[in-house]
Formats: sequence, C-alpha cells, structure tokens
Amino acid sequence: MSLKALSGFCKLVGKNSTRKILNPANFKIKTDRNLHITGSRLGVTAAIDPKQPATITKTFPTAHQSLQIGFHDNLASDFQFIWLRDNCKCSKCVHPDSKQKMLDTVSLDINIKPKSYHLTEKGMLKIIWPDTEGDHVSLYDPTWLHKYGKGFELDSHESIHDDNLPAMIPWDRDTIQQIKPEVNYEEVMETEEGLKKWLENIYKYGLAIMKGVPRRTGEVINVMERVAYVKKTKWGSSFDVKCEPVQNDPKHLAFTGMYLEHHTDMNYLEKSPGLQALLCMKANPAIEGESIGGQSFFVDGFHIAKWLRKEHPSSFHVLTSTLVEFKIHSHNMEYCNNQYVLHANKSGDIQEVHYNTRTMSPLKGPKDTVQAFYGAYQLFGQKMREPESEYIFNLVPGDLVAFNNRRVLHGRTSFDPRKVSRHLEGCYGDIDEVFVQYKSFMKNSDK
Ligand SMILES: [Fe+2]
Ligand SMILES: [Zn+2]
Repeated sequence: MSLKALSGFCKLVGKNSTRKILNPANFKIKTDRNLHITGSRLGVTAAIDPKQPATITKTFPTAHQSLQIGFHDNLASDFQFIWLRDNCKCSKCVHPDSKQKMLDTVSLDINIKPKSYHLTEKGMLKIIWPDTEGDHVSLYDPTWLHKYGKGFELDSHESIHDDNLPAMIPWDRDTIQQIKPEVNYEEVMETEEGLKKWLENIYKYGLAIMKGVPRRTGEVINVMERVAYVKKTKWGSSFDVKCEPVQNDPKHLAFTGMYLEHHTDMNYLEKSPGLQALLCMKANPAIEGESIGGQSFFVDGFHIAKWLRKEHPSSFHVLTSTLVEFKIHSHNMEYCNNQYVLHANKSGDIQEVHYNTRTMSPLKGPKDTVQAFYGAYQLFGQKMREPESEYIFNLVPGDLVAFNNRRVLHGRTSFDPRKVSRHLEGCYGDIDEVFVQYKSFMKNSDK
C-alpha cells in the first residue's frame, strides 16, 4: 500500500478528533443580533451522557451564509441558512400526518438569510425568515440540531447515530458463551417480550439461537415471517442443506462432508441478504468423548474487523478499499457482483462484511495492490479461525440460528458423510426489518 493511501486513511480515521471545540476566548459577541448565551456552561467538559437532550449554549452568525451553534458538550457547528430553511418543520413545510415534506426545495432562495433568530424560553431555536406571504417562522429542537451538527463536523453521513438504538456489541468466543443469546420458540412466537429478546440478540450480537422449533418443512419461513418478509432467491423461498450418507453428484460444497470455511452468503448478489435463518431438521447426536464432526461455527466479523483496524490499520485500509468480485454459476446463469471485504463508513466504523473464498474471483486491479491484499486477507482470515474467535457447537434438531449475514460469518467442520446425516432448512430476509422493529420496541419502552 502506498504512503499516500496510508496517510489518506489516517486522515479518515482521525476525523473524529477534528471536530471543532468551542473556545470561549474565540467568541465575538455581536450585540446587533438577537443573541442568547447561557454562558455558565461554556467550556465545561464534564462527562456527557449521549442520551441527555442537547442544549444550545451559543449562537452567532458567520462570515458565510450560516449560523454557528454551540452546544452543551462544546460542539460548535455551522448550519447553512439554506439548510435550516429547507428543514423547517412547520405545518406549511411538512405534512403533519404523513411527516412528508411539502416544501419545494428547488424554489428556495439559496442565499436566504433570516430576518432574526433567538432562543425561546424552552431552549428552542426560533428563526424568522422573509417570505412572499409575510414572515415564515421555524422552530428547531436543540437535540435534533445537535445530531446533524455532529454530522457536519465529522463530515460523515453515517456517523449520525440513531439515539433510539443502543450500540451493537462485538464479541469473541468467551463473550458470546457468557451471553448465550438463546430464546425459546414459543416465547418468540407467542409473546411480545420474547420477540423483543430475539430481535435484541440479532441486533446487538448479530446472532440468536432459538430452541425447540418444530421440525416441520417450511417452519423456518414461519419463524422468519414473525419479523421479516422472506427474501426469495434462485434457491426458492427456502433452501435445504442436506447431507445423506448416500448421495451422488452434490451441486454445492455445502452438500458434501467437506469443511466449510467461514463465509457470508451470496456476496455475488446486488445486495447480499442481511438476515439468514437456519433450522436444524436432522443431525446425528454427538457421542460423548467422540467427535462426529459437522459442528457449526459462527464468528463476529465486526469483532475481527475492529481487531484488524487496531492492530493492522494498513491491512484494514486494504480490505476496505479493494474491490473484490464474487461470482457463481448456477441454473445456467452467472451471478456476479463487486464488494469490499470490509465496508466501513467515513469514520472507520465497520458496516458490512463480505467474505467467501469459495466464490471470490481472481483479484483485479493494479499489480502493486496484489501482495497487500493477500497479506490483509490472510490476517483477517487467520484471526477468524482462532478458537478464541469462534462460537462453535453441534446444532441439535429443533435449533434455529438467525444471524446478520452481513456481519457474522458462518461455517461447518468436516464430517464423514458415510456416517452422518444432516439436514438444515434455511431462508433469507432483510435485516432492516429486525432493526426497525427493535427500534420501535425501544421507542415504546422509553415512553
Ligand atoms: Fe452459507
Ligand atoms: Zn416552514
């Protein structure tokens, strides 16, 4: 990797630290505007609770078409007037019921300036704009402004964290064994509390194991439909991973007894499915003291990526910036798509993992990237194969594993297909449905 690329990367991951800090000494108070300061809070750097509602401590105009707003946590952000006007939330600008925008963005004067602005008694920012139909009044909530202000300063769209959702928790073997993200079938299917617990596990850890699921054909779809629409693929609404002692001509390596290396599914699609569910219909019981193989394992790709970012930043950069082609020939068709192995946002936060050596095409691109890519790919792969990274166990009939397929890698140890029968039924869904429903549970529990 070139020095130039590395320095670019350092700039990116260092962005977090470049946000503007309000220095009280820099304030030039202008008295010709409606200016309001709650000065006692300026410069205070006490621990900030991110859930605490934001307060505005300072507002003042800049030389450009913007208003600078200072917040309780010393964040200072420039809000362009056109942006503020365009995001008015009054009932003329936003439909009160559908919450959809009615304001015609295109017709706004790009050089618009407020007639006046001030903080209300409740701490809201009130702006009066010139308008052909008389004054137009906008009110802005400080917490809402703070959220977007942070985005402006971090120069990152993705960094605008949704406060209604807690942080996802990366895990290794010991952590996940302690947490044991298990739920019971009836609990999830019949109670809201059970559903919430299931969603919470999938959201936070990217993985949930449901026990006691009836071994009926199609039951995996039934469970998926508790939370998401089933995403039909070329394999149908659901698919079988079957290994019988006698089987000829397997169409897929998963149908053999071979070791199935860690992978995420269907990276060759435009968007690989976010949610996968696998129901164990049949498995030979594990014999005590004897390994029959065919153990399932799961690894948190976010955890491995975080490790890589910390220990080998240049390799992290390589995997987040080298496009890899995934390809599969199936049903007389060729599916093909390019992905980054690690998809990170501008702040370096990992968003998605696309990893499957079986379907990866030969690397393309400039020759000086080849060695660096192999080095990074191997580091990432070696770390996920360490026993400390893997959550490994024998699925028993009636176990259903639901996982975030763009985060958690899965695989299976080898077994002797002459001795072992194994049957999993699986299906896919959209992970958004999990997030959206979990978020709505969180919102309601806050009330
Ligand atoms: Fe798979
Ligand atoms: Zn308005």
